[in-house]
Amino acid sequence: MKRILFAVISLSILVSCGKNKKEDTSEKIKIESPKKAETTKNNSNVEVDADGVANVLITTNDIMKFNIKKFTVKAGQKVKLTLTHTGKLDKKVMGHNVVILKKDVKLSLFASKAAAAKDNDYIPEGTTDVIAHTKMIGGGETTSIEFTAPEAGTYDFICSFPAHFAMMKGKFIVE
Ligand code: CO
Repeated sequence: MKRILFAVISLSILVSCGKNKKEDTSEKIKIESPKKAETTKNNSNVEVDADGVANVLITTNDIMKFNIKKFTVKAGQKVKLTLTHTGKLDKKVMGHNVVILKKDVKLSLFASKAAAAKDNDYIPEGTTDVIAHTKMIGGGETTSIEFTAPEAGTYDFICSFPAHFAMMKGKFIVE
């Protein structure tokens, strides 16, 4: 009698385990499917989501480099730009940001004005030269901004930390 009872109990445990496993599987399928199918890549580092927002991911590190040299969006498109600093150094010594400059802004001139604006995170106070910029971050930090892409053209982006722009610059292309 005891043996039969034991068998019944273990059987019911087995059955309930099987049930749980099934539920787990369906849960996993749900997690893996969010919006991914609807996203399209127009270049390697821009992913347009279901709402038409161009998500741009830029990474940087302790050796003063952006992982990309350019990114492309469409005029008037909403852009969400995320900057991740994968290094270890503090923002006081290895700070990075992304500053997108208006057309015809001279890089070296802007960079020297920015270098003098330490108290404002190296963004010249009241500047009219900037389309959009992230905040300055250090190692291990991530920051995001959202803005609307300007008219078609090719724009420069830089890191405005003193002396970084020579290594840290690229092109923002609006089609
Ligand atoms: Co920098």
